[in-house]
Amino acid sequence: MTDPAAAIPTAAAAPTVYIETFGCQMNVLDTQLVRGQLQALGYRFIDDWKQADVILYNTCSVREQAENKALSRVGEVGMLKKERPGVVLGVIGCMAERDGVDMTRRHPQIDLICGPGELDKVPMLIDNVMKTDPKRRGGKFNAQVALQGNMHRRSSTLAAAEDQLEMLDLSRSFDPDEHKGSAYVRITRGCNKFCTYCVVPMTRGAEVHRPPDHIVEECRKLVESGVVEVTLLGQTVNHYHYDHAAAVTINGLQQPQVGSVVNLSSPLSRGEKVRERAGVRASSSSITSFAELLARIHDEVPALRRLRFVTNFPRDFGDDILQVMRDSPRICRYLHLPVQSGSNRMLKLMNRGYEVREYRDLIDRARAFLPDVQIATDIICGFPTETEEDHAATVELLKYCRFKNAFIFKYSPRPGTAAIDRFEDDVPDDVKRRRNNELLALQIDISGQVHAACVGQTVRVFVESISEHSQRELDGGLPGSGSTVSLGWQKPQRVTQLTGRTDGDLIVCFDGDASMIGSIVEVKIERSAPLTLFGRVEQVSAASR
Ligand code: 5AD
Ligand code: SF4
Repeated sequence: MTDPAAAIPTAAAAPTVYIETFGCQMNVLDTQLVRGQLQALGYRFIDDWKQADVILYNTCSVREQAENKALSRVGEVGMLKKERPGVVLGVIGCMAERDGVDMTRRHPQIDLICGPGELDKVPMLIDNVMKTDPKRRGGKFNAQVALQGNMHRRSSTLAAAEDQLEMLDLSRSFDPDEHKGSAYVRITRGCNKFCTYCVVPMTRGAEVHRPPDHIVEECRKLVESGVVEVTLLGQTVNHYHYDHAAAVTINGLQQPQVGSVVNLSSPLSRGEKVRERAGVRASSSSITSFAELLARIHDEVPALRRLRFVTNFPRDFGDDILQVMRDSPRICRYLHLPVQSGSNRMLKLMNRGYEVREYRDLIDRARAFLPDVQIATDIICGFPTETEEDHAATVELLKYCRFKNAFIFKYSPRPGTAAIDRFEDDVPDDVKRRRNNELLALQIDISGQVHAACVGQTVRVFVESISEHSQRELDGGLPGSGSTVSLGWQKPQRVTQLTGRTDGDLIVCFDGDASMIGSIVEVKIERSAPLTLFGRVEQVSAASR
């Protein structure tokens, strides 16, 4: 393999790249980081895959549907390569890691595969492919490969210190146009939970927690570059813990860690107070917990307007986190708490490590600390052996929890998971579909009530984009788009429908002008639908613009 520095293309022939992302927010962030690396090296990104010199698919293995979509794209590129054999096709992310070189045997048009733990190597892999004669690229023996294979379940913090991948997050570019006011920041990679249905521990490897100083610094830099909202990412964010004593080096350099030496004579930082309140003596622990991390970011980056985090694991969700949320006005009142099932028997087979009683207790505690919190969940229906009684228990749980919304999935057996080996996929598809529809109908009813309760309130909204409805009108130049109206608080503007999210992650549509995107506005809610609120802008928050 060649040196990554050698991957710099000449300016005369800046290759064009098309990249498409499948799956979760973690993949969205990974794509941004890969894109940043390639842009820094001179690659130019375009939206038309048929014109690109390099086509990259950042794939997801969580459900079969996402995999099938990516594979159909791979097939299309196979056809394109008949006309343009020089095109480079790369499959990166979870599918690449799970299928390995088998994938290149089945789809010889693939020139490179790269797992989520090796993404810093993408430029070098592309460069290697480009240096190879198109006739000799791809296939089982010629594809460029960077996978972690079985090496990736290493110890957590030590691995973080040594992890080259950390450099990828550290070296991210801070381009205000790229983020449109909102950015993801990874706090933990991988997962140690091994839910029996889930492929993530196999594809993303062991949990590795990033040093808190790196995370705080990244948030600070993002805010300096115009970011208004940061979303912290991890498969189980609330289990974040950074052991300063175990951290050693990055590239041979000792990493100074704020908080690793506690001076008891100086006033306690809020992070330390959080620890004390949680019953841990400040001097006895060199761990930074998730609650402390939240408090640090909130307090040390005061210009950050909104801090949110996904996704949580319901076990061991301490009151310390809820206390920090309650005491930190710029932390969003939103919890994504995947429950997966309302049946203890299913939860046990899924290896979730908690019972329904504990989950309900967490919901009660969250609402006691944060009366205005909105909670969302994930459900899997039709897991092996699920009976009507188990399904009824999930119905009951939905009624009890009154989520703002629920992502409901039919169980999809995934190669590489414990469930596919241990259990027969014995719930027929029509039963899965019926249960899915029943849960959806109930949840739409509950979501409708949750949203209706907001009518008449004034809510803070982070403005994300032009609504799909307005975008279609603008693209098609249909009548009704872009009319000129006085909003009262500003000069007449071109008005279009915008969408954004409240602190509790409720979607809001309202009329405004596109310059509001990326800022926080106050919207008076006038009507509601099951998944959307509709309102009128009252005020643009001064500090956000
Ligand atoms: N089948 C169906 N849904 C799944 N999820 C994860 N693995 C599977 C699977 N094999 C769902 C879970 C998880 C969400 C990200 O995807 O609900 O919380
Ligand atoms: Fe998958 Fe469970 Fe880890 Fe979530 S907690 S990523 S569902 S193994």
